[in-house]
Amino acid sequence: MNQDQDQRWTTEVLARVEEALSDWVPGEAPAGLGAAMRYGVLDGGKRLRALLVMGAAQAAGADLHPSGREAALRAACAVELIHAYSLIHDDMPCMDNDVLRRGKPTVHVAFGEAQAMLAGDAMQALAFEVLTPDDEDGRSAVPPDLQARLCRLLAHAAGQSGMAGGQAIDLASVGHALDEATLRDMHERKTGALLRASVQMGAACGGLRPGLPAWSALTAYGHAMGLAFQIVDDVLDATQDSAQLGKTAGKDADANKPTYVSLLGLDGAQAEAERLLDRALQALEAMDATPASLAPLRGIAERIVRRDH
Ligand code: IPE
Ligand code: IPE
Ligand code: MG
Ligand code: MG
Ligand code: MG
Repeated sequence: MNQDQDQRWTTEVLARVEEALSDWVPGEAPAGLGAAMRYGVLDGGKRLRALLVMGAAQAAGADLHPSGREAALRAACAVELIHAYSLIHDDMPCMDNDVLRRGKPTVHVAFGEAQAMLAGDAMQALAFEVLTPDDEDGRSAVPPDLQARLCRLLAHAAGQSGMAGGQAIDLASVGHALDEATLRDMHERKTGALLRASVQMGAACGGLRPGLPAWSALTAYGHAMGLAFQIVDDVLDATQDSAQLGKTAGKDADANKPTYVSLLGLDGAQAEAERLLDRALQALEAMDATPASLAPLRGIAERIVRRDH
């Protein structure tokens, strides 16, 4: 895949995900809740987790079967719903107290704290509804065993062993200098888990399972990219301005949060992200798949580490 094909693949995937999210997030949810949900998840975000699902699905051959294609689209939307919910709650005054997200006022600023909390709650539930279509949905069915696997992968990554647990460590660590192992554990949970699960969900849509070499390779890729993603988020917080990021820059130092930048310095943190990029690309090398099927995952990995917002 050359750069043009890569760009075409990305544009096409993003359009499908955006359209599906718009179809599935109900504007008519009661008492303004639908408006808050749509505001929180539509029209913004780089959709890197959705791209990881779709890239891994392509690497695993999921698009060869209508049900694999449908499952991957649902998984891509579900992980973006969980991610957007985590951002809404992360920005609330009781957590990071941020007023800007994706270039707009945060959900609690625009809709109030109670509505922001409920929008997050409802989006978390909606993610699992999207993963479990019933027969009347009128689209190609997703086999029940695949539905269950996708739910488990996402739930495990979103809950106490993943994102929510990592966020708890993040809040408990304000003002503390963490050692590398503890900081890595926090980052792997709060952000890494959801990225790794994105890759695993895509792999599952192509019929891959634990024990298969391709599953291990994609998991290694997802693991490395998950940590690299949060390291780069720490770097960008310290190097870019708010207009570029679409969120308030310089928050980590202001809030006295331990980050890879506070631990290793800017150059050390970026070098660690580059090392993880190499590791992720090496994991793909080990896969018995065509270069074309792996091209999207390669491109996404480079984008995660070299991005400027
Ligand atoms: C930001 O994630 C929050 C973290 C988990 C570090 P993204 O940078 O992927 O945010 P969006 O989805 O593009 O807004
Ligand atoms: C948030 O990490 C991770 C989540 C689970 C949402 P950050 O607090 O660093 O994310 P930003 O910088 O606000 O996007
Ligand atoms: Mg935070
Ligand atoms: Mg934050
Ligand atoms: Mg951050």
